[in-house]
Amino acid sequence: MSLERYRADFPVLDQEIEGKPIIYLDNACMTLKPQPVIDAMNEYYTKYSACGGRSIHKFATKVTVAVEESRKRIKEYVNSRNSNEIIFTRNATEGINLVGNSIGLKSGDVVLTTDREHNSNLAPWHLLKNKIGIEHKVVESNDDGTFSMNNLKNALDKNVKLLSMVHTSNLDGYTIPAEDVIKVAHEQDILVMLDGAQSAPHHAIDVQKLDVDFFAFSIHKMCGPTGVGVLYGKYDLLDGLSPFIVGGDTVEKTTYETSLFLKPPSKFEGGLQNYAGLIGSGEAAKYLMDIGLDKIEQHELELNEYVTEQLNEIPEVTIIGPPDPKLRGGITGFTVKDMNPHDIAMILDEVANIMIRSGMHCVHSWFNAKGIEGSVRVAFYLYNTRSEVDIFIEKLREIISTFS
Ligand SMILES: Cc1ncc(COP(=O)(O)O)c(C=O)c1O
Repeated sequence: MSLERYRADFPVLDQEIEGKPIIYLDNACMTLKPQPVIDAMNEYYTKYSACGGRSIHKFATKVTVAVEESRKRIKEYVNSRNSNEIIFTRNATEGINLVGNSIGLKSGDVVLTTDREHNSNLAPWHLLKNKIGIEHKVVESNDDGTFSMNNLKNALDKNVKLLSMVHTSNLDGYTIPAEDVIKVAHEQDILVMLDGAQSAPHHAIDVQKLDVDFFAFSIHKMCGPTGVGVLYGKYDLLDGLSPFIVGGDTVEKTTYETSLFLKPPSKFEGGLQNYAGLIGSGEAAKYLMDIGLDKIEQHELELNEYVTEQLNEIPEVTIIGPPDPKLRGGITGFTVKDMNPHDIAMILDEVANIMIRSGMHCVHSWFNAKGIEGSVRVAFYLYNTRSEVDIFIEKLREIISTFS
């Protein structure tokens, strides 16, 4: 499934640095932005750069309409029941913190995560442990990195109030069997939040089919602007949460003594917003839906199978996570014997503008537990090609034969 024709939509790829093209393989960190997204944001800044939701003049009305149109597109993207279930945040991190702080957790309540969480779905639970005495427990994965339903079932008891789990891991691209996990949790009336930062950009998401209670993701990882995230929540649950960041636009009425808060999503969207970003977000969702998430996923899988085949032929390389690339979406993380991952990343960038990620990828807890100093990570998106993989492998082989 070649999506090569879409490369032309990404102006950043239409340049050379020091006479060489750019090979951007750091897509699990952030994706590049296509022209329609850039145009939508430029249009806001050049044609109607006012606030939304408050003033009644023409510019403000246009902003309000454009933001709500964007919300509808995100609703469609995740197939939620209605747009009021879509809260705009700054990023996935904020969505997770919002739920953690608003869901009414008390001392002794248990939050379960996997053993491979991004710090964004780990540090909030540590903070709440220190602040109010919740307990955070970890469900260990199987030895091959896949999800252990047995370990999950063994960890469930009456004190568990929330499962907050990474849907697709940024460590190795593995996606947990979320629908089954949610079913098991719901049988015991336990709520489930998924960290969808790495799933929403790469797989078709259907929050109704998943029956997930909360789903947090970041728009900058799906061709959209920086500084925007989304928290989906079932409406009744959102309605029952206490607000998180309050102020202008979150209240229906205030007196000197009291504030009466609006209904979701407004009660969670305090203050003037990143309007250009919100408008660009809807455009990004439309852009991806127009191509088709299934096609994007297939394209990434093919590239991942291709890179895996070739990495498997390099004896110094050890791939992290399940050996089968079909279980790792568009991400491959690996270590190289006797080489520091940052050195590899630096040299690839230096010699061929190959931009990848090295280090612990904000999953320090997993690396520290395993005693691994970090990994090299390549992460594909719709604009990557097989010939980019060829160049990456050629340069990696050169580096290994020179330095290892
Ligand atoms: C799995 C996962 N969760 C959460 C995040 C945090 O996303 P953000 O920094 O946009 O909030 C990331 C970012 O890399 C991620 O990969």
